[in-house]
Amino acid sequence: MKTVIAENLVKTYDKGKVRALDGLNLDVEEGTVLSVLGPNGAGKTTVVRILTTLLRADSGNAQVAGIDVVNNPEKVREVIGLSGQYAAVDEILTGYDNLVMFGELYHLGKKQAVVRANELLERFSLTEAAKRPIKTYSGGMRRRLDLAASLIVKPKVLFLDEPTTGLDPRGRQEMWGVIQELVKGGVTLLLTTQYLEEADQLADDIAVIDTGKVIARGTSDALKKQVGGERLEVVVEQQHIAKTMEIVSAVSGHTAGLDEGLRLITAPVSTGSVALFEVLKSLDSAGIHALDVGLKRPSLDDVFLALTGHTAEVKVEEKEVKK
Ligand SMILES: Nc1ncnc2c1ncn2[C@@H]1O[C@H](COP(=O)(O)OP(=O)(O)OP(=O)(O)O)[C@@H](O)[C@H]1O
Ligand SMILES: [Mg+2]
Repeated sequence: MKTVIAENLVKTYDKGKVRALDGLNLDVEEGTVLSVLGPNGAGKTTVVRILTTLLRADSGNAQVAGIDVVNNPEKVREVIGLSGQYAAVDEILTGYDNLVMFGELYHLGKKQAVVRANELLERFSLTEAAKRPIKTYSGGMRRRLDLAASLIVKPKVLFLDEPTTGLDPRGRQEMWGVIQELVKGGVTLLLTTQYLEEADQLADDIAVIDTGKVIARGTSDALKKQVGGERLEVVVEQQHIAKTMEIVSAVSGHTAGLDEGLRLITAPVSTGSVALFEVLKSLDSAGIHALDVGLKRPSLDDVFLALTGHTAEVKVEEKEVKK
């Protein structure tokens, strides 16, 4: 069963000048994780806001758990949880008070709200900080509290909009652990991200979006296969580059590429470890000691580049230069 369905969603801003969604189609199978992967401005937050009834599409249809988001927004809200890109918690209240307040908003009743708040604080390792105002929390703690708030009513369907943006590597790892636990509990999850690794780690299925449209869909493996098989990579000292390129080209059957700065020689191979072994043997016969050698599968970054002509993780500085 499809728990989330979006059909041909169109959303424009600024009197039609900005086309945030341009005929977007998505679906999420019950009990699975779909990652919506795309760069800044691709339309991720817009689609999440439409699916969670916070925003209306100009046209198209969307259903969550079989309920139409436009005709029955209240019913949709009863079965979903949302943790947004910008945490929705109250800065002045403590973590505990925030969760109890959310519980009461969801009509849990004071007693139940307190029980649930304590459960969630424990689960997200926030018990120690529970009685401190949110404004004293770190970024990672805020994201965890925001996620905890979205779980108060044990949602069937959870939407997480860039749950780890702005977290340091440790915070990101922690959040991934928490999300993986949730998924084991059987929730259906739609997660947006601009991090390829995150989609790789967490998602059953990935929808790559760019300028408001899905441009590719599949498992991480399937997407990687689309751009080709394995590549052989060899790093050698400067004086051995020419000979090594000859060897790698001969084994690969394709002209090897060279990254001069890294002294990295690469070529596609179809025979995996056999090719690796042949290259090592030939290098050895030529008296060349490789500094680094390996087989590399294409990354999702390679996939994104092949699909769109630009990488997914555009750095702020680069974007400014482009403008
Ligand atoms: N309220 C608004 N008014 C005008 N334009 C908007 C508005 N909200 C979003 N947009 C535009 O719509 C497009 C999609 O925005 P959206 O926030 O959905 O992208 P996103 O994929 O979530 O990006 P990010 O990774 O930066 O969060 C962008 O071009 C954005 O500038
Ligand atoms: Mg966004």
